[in-house]
Amino acid sequence: MSRFFGPYGGQYVGEVLKPALSELEEAVQTILKSPEFIDEYRYLLKHYVGRPTPLCHAENLSRSLGGARIYLKQEGLAQTGAHKINNALGQVLLARHMGKQRVIAETGAGQHGVAVAAAAAKLGLKCEVFMGAVDVQRQQPNVFLMKQYGAQVHPVMQGTRTLKDAVNAALKHWVEESSHTLYVLGSALGPYPYPDIVREFQRVIGDEAREQILELEGRLPDTVVACCGGGSNALGIFSAFFDDPVRLIAVEAGGRGSGLGDHAVRMSGGGSLGIIEGYKSYFLQDSEGQVQPTHSISAGLDYAGIGPQLAYLGDIGRVQFTQADDQQVLDAYQQFARQEGLICALESAHAAAAVLKRAPKMQPEEIIIMNMSGRGDKDIFITAKELYRTQWQEFLMQEARS
Ligand SMILES: Cc1ncc(COP(=O)(O)O)c(C=O)c1O
Repeated sequence: MSRFFGPYGGQYVGEVLKPALSELEEAVQTILKSPEFIDEYRYLLKHYVGRPTPLCHAENLSRSLGGARIYLKQEGLAQTGAHKINNALGQVLLARHMGKQRVIAETGAGQHGVAVAAAAAKLGLKCEVFMGAVDVQRQQPNVFLMKQYGAQVHPVMQGTRTLKDAVNAALKHWVEESSHTLYVLGSALGPYPYPDIVREFQRVIGDEAREQILELEGRLPDTVVACCGGGSNALGIFSAFFDDPVRLIAVEAGGRGSGLGDHAVRMSGGGSLGIIEGYKSYFLQDSEGQVQPTHSISAGLDYAGIGPQLAYLGDIGRVQFTQADDQQVLDAYQQFARQEGLICALESAHAAAAVLKRAPKMQPEEIIIMNMSGRGDKDIFITAKELYRTQWQEFLMQEARS
């Protein structure tokens, strides 16, 4: 467990939050290492989440691109449709082992909220999710799902009424209620020890992929590609390959242009150093440290900060950063659907776009693994509008009248 990754990370919080974080630190040192916890978590990953997820050879794409052999790690087949459940389930189980009766979470696009709500229902804990009021409007299907799992969703009316305001509201609530509540954070960021906790719960992706590729190909991949919001799916798969000669590529959201507010590129010169939401890293911010709006076609990548470990790995060159813009993402989404029969989440389609660019330049004996972090059913209100605008709008109007 690391408090800092080079200069990044840390625990920059007010005194009022320190007791709750210290209690969590202690639980990480004891409960997370206990055989009872490990056995129960593994059991649930297998029988509830559906792990191991398959590593699928994308034969058609590999053939038509004419370069590297492409493999897809299918996190979209995990319970609730994305990798988010690995971490949500782990932290909710930790809460139960800590004797808490309730979990709270922040959510932006709603994927993490849905995963926490499902895990809490499975483990019998109460769940409350803080979500910016603007996001509540934009992400009605996920709000609906969270409610089906029995969670209470609190629309946050402060600030810009988006993710950062939801984080602030959840932290404030945690300070007041930490005796019986655990805050379940959704990506590999935030104050120590969250970046470590989230990475450890997500490293199952990389551990499985490593074992699977060795079994299928008898050797390690040359390149591993993952999309990058806060960084949890990227770190999850990369962690198993840090000590190997494997190229690691993280793909950020290039959005609709290079102007501030049009993308979510924190690395590659987009962001600057700051301390926000309890940790030091790169953020998209103005000269006064105010977090700036972002844009991406995928709701899960439009976050203004990046997890501290990835910021450090980017600095030292162990992880290379690239980006895909909204149009490249939509193109990749369609190509993967038509050639491989797989509907990627729009977040994962950023990694898909990078694979389409890179694989043809590689040799046929080389191997590239892409983390398909989620499936794209959740995005139908975005993709259908982008790809079939008129028919989709007519359908929605018809539904509204019925
Ligand atoms: C399917 C999917 N992939 C990726 C992400 C980005 O998060 P992270 O960078 O933490 O993996 C999200 C976030 O909601 C997501 O839903």
